[in-house]
Amino acid sequence: MDLFRKKEISVLLAHQSPLKRTLHTWDLIFLGIGDIIGTGIFVLTGKGALTTGPSLSLSFFIAAVCCGFAGLCYAEFASMAPVSGSAYTYSYISFGEIVAFIIGWDLILEYALGAATVAAGWSGYFVNFLSGFGIHIPTVLSAAPGTTAGVTTYFNLPGFLIILLITTVVAMGINQTKHVNDTMIIIKLAVIVLFLAFTVWYIKVGNWRPFTPYGWYSFHNGTAAGVIPAASICFFSFIGFDSVSSSAEETINPSKTLPKGIMYSLCIATVLYILMSLTMTGVVKYTIFAKYLDAPILAVLHATGQGWLSMIVSLGAILGMTTVILVQIYGQSRITYSMSRDGLLPEFFGHVSLRRQTPYKGTWFFGIITSIAAGFINLNILSELVNIGTLTAFILVSAGVMWMRRSHPEIHRGFKAPGVPVTPLIAIAFCMLLIAGLNWETWLRFVIWLAIGLCIYFGYARKHSKMNDE
Ligand code: ALA
Repeated sequence: MDLFRKKEISVLLAHQSPLKRTLHTWDLIFLGIGDIIGTGIFVLTGKGALTTGPSLSLSFFIAAVCCGFAGLCYAEFASMAPVSGSAYTYSYISFGEIVAFIIGWDLILEYALGAATVAAGWSGYFVNFLSGFGIHIPTVLSAAPGTTAGVTTYFNLPGFLIILLITTVVAMGINQTKHVNDTMIIIKLAVIVLFLAFTVWYIKVGNWRPFTPYGWYSFHNGTAAGVIPAASICFFSFIGFDSVSSSAEETINPSKTLPKGIMYSLCIATVLYILMSLTMTGVVKYTIFAKYLDAPILAVLHATGQGWLSMIVSLGAILGMTTVILVQIYGQSRITYSMSRDGLLPEFFGHVSLRRQTPYKGTWFFGIITSIAAGFINLNILSELVNIGTLTAFILVSAGVMWMRRSHPEIHRGFKAPGVPVTPLIAIAFCMLLIAGLNWETWLRFVIWLAIGLCIYFGYARKHSKMNDE
């Protein structure tokens, strides 16, 4: 039995998609920004700054380089095979079924855990925001058990509810998703620009010295510190551009618009991250963030006496993270839709509503699981699994581009990544560097998740694969 049987691009392209094509380049850029900018800027900057000091901007740059090179590979694949499924479908084409299943399984983890992690950050800002109006959510219902040492919490009610709400929006249809998303992204970008405009004047160059207090890689208080470990954390901030490619079947002229959507959204996010991290570590001494881990931006606003901005910025953070959750849930529903269409997951997940033209059953199934995860699981530890999962997908997509250039040079590509094979090789090297920056527990948990995936592949997917009929 051939574990590495592959899909032909021509067969995939011949398939008539029941999904509706409505997305243009700008919609894709918005989709990308919607998924990229969120927790990374509003929450993780604090942890990142504590890990590497003022050189946080350098860590963001390294993560951006990794994603930029991988992004070029995604763009080439998306232009060559503009069908839904992203890295899952690309792996099916280049490496065969078992690799595709594993990467699809990995993407399910990336999106579900990613959305739940962002919901945890969302909840922190939301609870703060409401308390500004005198509304207090009981502490026991404000976070999952064990999230904050010394504080008793049982359930993250706001995180649970936001996932359910967004699942409803995604299940309603791509047009509704698009409009809600676009409005929130405009507010998110406006708030970031406002924050920069009001705080950049307070930068003290002295706060940037020493720039790399922990060097490239060292151990501080028993944990990895320095530019590389911080880059491994910052990587989470860039996750999301890959979800643009999941929308291929809902995009108009995808082979041209997908590469633009991926690369432009990545560039905009990189510029904003670097400006934000330089400003934040320039205005206050990085050690201050230890007290503001849930909402590091507030440290800067308090230090500059711009407390009045904190409600506006909190609102921007809440909306900003809402769009990330939205695109993650959207991306996940499209991955499981593609896997189900190929017979690797039950038909239930691929069932498309005739009225809404969305795979609403799968969307609800995973929406409910994700909301329960956000409510009950302490994601501080598990969120790094999202990074390792995504980095693995990037490695496969980059290797796939090299492989396809050799094995199928004749296939038309609306966009060609420059400098192949150097570009994908650099992407792979950077992904490995960032995986090395993660701790070994994360590697172990990831291997366990993949082992569960292999059991499902041999127990179900292999027997039901549509390739058995081809
Ligand atoms: N990049 C996304 C975020 O920062 C996942 O929230």
